[in-house]
Amino acid sequence: MRFDIVSVFPEFFQVLDLSLVGKARERGVLEVAAHDLRDWTDDPHRTVDDTPAGGGAGMVMRADIWGKAIDELLAGPARKTGEEEAVAQGRATGGRSARACSRGTGKLREGAKRPNTVPNATPEAFRAVLAIPTPSGTPLTQRACERLAGQADRIIVACGRYEGIDARVAEHYAGRGVEVFEYSLGDYVLNGGEVAAVALVEAVGRLLPGMVGNPESLLEESHSAAGLLEYPVYTRPVEWRGLRIPEVLLGGNHREAARWRRDRSLERTAARRPDMIAGLDARAMDKKDRRMLAELGFMANRGSSHPTPMRIREAGPADAEALAALAARTFPDACPAWLGREDMDAFIAENLSAERFGEYLADPHWLVLVCEDAGEGGTGFAGYTLCLLPEADGAAGIEEGAPVNATVDGVVRDGPLVELSKFYVDRAWRGSGVSGALWRATLAGLSQRTRQWREPFVWLGTNEGNRRARKAYRKMGFAEVGERTFMVGDEPNSDVIFARRIHVA
Ligand code: ADE
Repeated sequence: MRFDIVSVFPEFFQVLDLSLVGKARERGVLEVAAHDLRDWTDDPHRTVDDTPAGGGAGMVMRADIWGKAIDELLAGPARKTGEEEAVAQGRATGGRSARACSRGTGKLREGAKRPNTVPNATPEAFRAVLAIPTPSGTPLTQRACERLAGQADRIIVACGRYEGIDARVAEHYAGRGVEVFEYSLGDYVLNGGEVAAVALVEAVGRLLPGMVGNPESLLEESHSAAGLLEYPVYTRPVEWRGLRIPEVLLGGNHREAARWRRDRSLERTAARRPDMIAGLDARAMDKKDRRMLAELGFMANRGSSHPTPMRIREAGPADAEALAALAARTFPDACPAWLGREDMDAFIAENLSAERFGEYLADPHWLVLVCEDAGEGGTGFAGYTLCLLPEADGAAGIEEGAPVNATVDGVVRDGPLVELSKFYVDRAWRGSGVSGALWRATLAGLSQRTRQWREPFVWLGTNEGNRRARKAYRKMGFAEVGERTFMVGDEPNSDVIFARRIHVA
């Protein structure tokens, strides 16, 4: 791989003589030469720019000067000549090296005059790329660097200054079959392309075979194929200024350490680059990934192609229809297998119709939260909770079996007893972390509404045969505190009653 960098500040590229290029030179995998654009001028002032056509501020770099420079470099050697090979291997003792950046402050006259090692070579045969750093280019990404490292033999970097390079330069070379890559380092404006040229050499150069000592480190770093930012890293001392390396990294359990790192990567990416989360392949994720993402405000299930942002909010009157549809879909899943459809339908018609939801939503005693896919083309509600708040420090749902005298963790209720009347997640979203996120939001909502009380409680009833739900409620911090008979249509059902304190995490 050879980089020819053309700039009006060729001395700038002496930095490339430091670690990266130095190493690359030893290994013979990378050549870099810096050239002074002014060497291709003909006038005594060595002018490279002129005023913009059509008026406006600043100066534009001339196409004719750039054309001469790029033509000459494209016609230059595609492979190392004998002399360059010798220099690359540290055998040359004198003479001008075309690829030494620190000394390449003039154009490559020697290199250009030497016969091509590939006679009549076309730019395609060299797999040449003309890279033009510009704030109006496409963002420079790791994918683009990987492609260049894998496909290009030589990259000519044309560093613009002032208002940039006459647009016909890119147009002309693209028309001649040279790949023109106009790239930007980011959404900010530098004074010229030099910093971006160094970034390109380093980002592409380190991907070349033999450049990085441990190629595995390329796989795990930020912006690798996993599409996540890298997790935080630590080394000795174990304790520094009161900060300890996380225990999980010290225990020697590699599986746990890998999971911890993956979670931190997801967390960092969600916080710093949510756009990258939306680009992840959800099919490549496991259940733990999906649960972590749900904690971070994104949702993905087994059928999703990409995670989408999750929104949990209080429902409003406009949601009554969609809530009723979700409630009708999900209620039967909580019923025992022996229960007849007619009884379930009767219960749904009586308690979960759009009209009934309209009433809940109009009554401030009911708190209704919905979890929805907030991405473009979102798939609607994934789950909901329906809570009944009592007056003051009373108990909600006494007729439903509220455990008025329950004590939990040895603590006696001192404040309202809220009823968690419904907590349902649509089938497609079970096991995705949606229920955990919805529960945390519900508990936060209840905590907020009961914050003036010392020990408010929340209770619920669930069918005694529903082992999945019983296990889930225990994980959510509920304890079994009693039983009740619950009518579904005309059928009595045996329920277990759970309760928990609201003000504990
Ligand atoms: N030249 C000036 N600003 C630049 C940027 N942000 N990226 C690449 N080249 C530039």
